[in-house]
Amino acid sequence: MGGHSDKQHPWWERGVVYQIYPRSFQDSSGDGVGDLAGIESRLDYIASLGVDAIWLSPIFPSPMADFGYDVADYRGIEPLFGTLEDFDRLLAAAHERGLKLLLDFVPNHSSDRHPWFVESRSSRDNPKRDWYIWRDPAPDGGPPNNWISDFGGSAWEWDEATGQYYLHAFLPQQPDLNWRNPQLKAAMLDVLRFWLDRGVDGFRIDVLWHIVKAEGLPDNPLNPEWHPGMNERDRVLQANSTDQPEAHAIAAEMRAIADSYGAMSERERVLIGEIFLPFDRLARWYGTPERPEVHLPFNFSLIENPWDARTIAGLIADYEASLPEWGWPNWVLGSHDAARIAARVGEAQARVAMMMLLTLRGTPTLYQGDELGIGQVEIPADKVQDPREKRQPGIGLGRDPSRTPMAWDSSPNAGFSRAEPWLPLHGDWPGRNVAMEEQDAGSMLNLTRALLRLRRQEPALAVGDYAPVAGDGTLLAYERRAGDSRLLVALNLGDAAVALPELAHGAERLLSTLPGEANELRGNEGLIVRLA
Ligand code: GLC
Repeated sequence: MGGHSDKQHPWWERGVVYQIYPRSFQDSSGDGVGDLAGIESRLDYIASLGVDAIWLSPIFPSPMADFGYDVADYRGIEPLFGTLEDFDRLLAAAHERGLKLLLDFVPNHSSDRHPWFVESRSSRDNPKRDWYIWRDPAPDGGPPNNWISDFGGSAWEWDEATGQYYLHAFLPQQPDLNWRNPQLKAAMLDVLRFWLDRGVDGFRIDVLWHIVKAEGLPDNPLNPEWHPGMNERDRVLQANSTDQPEAHAIAAEMRAIADSYGAMSERERVLIGEIFLPFDRLARWYGTPERPEVHLPFNFSLIENPWDARTIAGLIADYEASLPEWGWPNWVLGSHDAARIAARVGEAQARVAMMMLLTLRGTPTLYQGDELGIGQVEIPADKVQDPREKRQPGIGLGRDPSRTPMAWDSSPNAGFSRAEPWLPLHGDWPGRNVAMEEQDAGSMLNLTRALLRLRRQEPALAVGDYAPVAGDGTLLAYERRAGDSRLLVALNLGDAAVALPELAHGAERLLSTLPGEANELRGNEGLIVRLA
């Protein structure tokens, strides 16, 4: 199976990405919301983890209807987070420590307060009218088509003053931009140059597969599997509102811009696309060698599938098989949008999951706080912030539990802020924080560091080939190989012991998720051994 471990690997193939949710990493100003100076003050911690790049969720001026994913100025810094000078300082400080820095580019929609939209909605003949997607009502006066917002409700908002609807794939405060308009496209591509000129190392691109809609905006087909209680978004299949060929062409233009800043060098700028699609369609976002698109189309399959060894063995095989020869894999286990892994699979399994994330073939993205094993967090009803939860309450869509502040130590507010944090901390923060876990040899933090260290030492783990090892029940096993070096990773996704794969017997043990050792793979154990 997949791999070309003999070739040279750029930093973004060898490396590990660490996602920071800036509102919740470190507050330096004392307003209960994290900021750039706070992140800068924690760079040594990030470097000490052994990751290679930081991706910052959006830091641009924003009314915060969707906590930064509603951008009111693509070229500035939100005052809550600091200033452009703070940003330049942070970038330089990251680079001094050998850390790359990626920004979050949000091309599908702006804030409704962005001056472009203010102009666009001011009249039907405003030159920026066509920078957004405006349509007349359907003959019955209702929305122009059946598209549904990802946050529930129609994807169309009526504008009384100009007598048309505008499209919003997310909140009404997030009108969709019209990438079919050449001026809009040029203005947005210039935003990439603006930040690349400042020295950023690339972008995570928000909902990239959404940015162009089918010509004529035809209805989406109904989803026969939808039933009440499910996310309203899934009432329809987003066949006409997402994944259009024209969006691939734009991704290729973005890539050409990134590549013009130094492809195939240590200064290579990387593009990571946020794309939720089945593997065959996801793989198309790599483009072709002649016309590459994004370096890494995010692979969310570990988040989207049941935590079951046979299911995961199957999806790894399917994913590897779907990759084009030139496509480098990647894996995501947590994010500001998904449930915390430890909340999903439990604390003991979260350690196995961390070993999986950091030993599968491909670039891992590690979400802040997962290295502490933060699990379930209860958000009291009066503290709910997430607009997705507010629009469809009570069906499990709330993202606040994954967005709670980092816990640094046992001082008030866990050292996150002098003020009450904008979201509550996880309940067990007095024991589950960076300072406490640093002192505990068996902590999730120290396991994460050990895994990252091993990954850095062993080319087989960082860039080696992947080969599945037969297993059944709760055992998931695979080999990673580079040159003469062969490592076996054996993961027990259940809580009862299973036999170790034959070839592990007598092999040198490199790292286990559990203390001590046994002749079998204990319940909730993940083990890495050296075969050769
Ligand atoms: C992406 C972001 C999510 C946001 C949405 C709309 O999925 O990760 O947080 O709400 O896009 O911008």
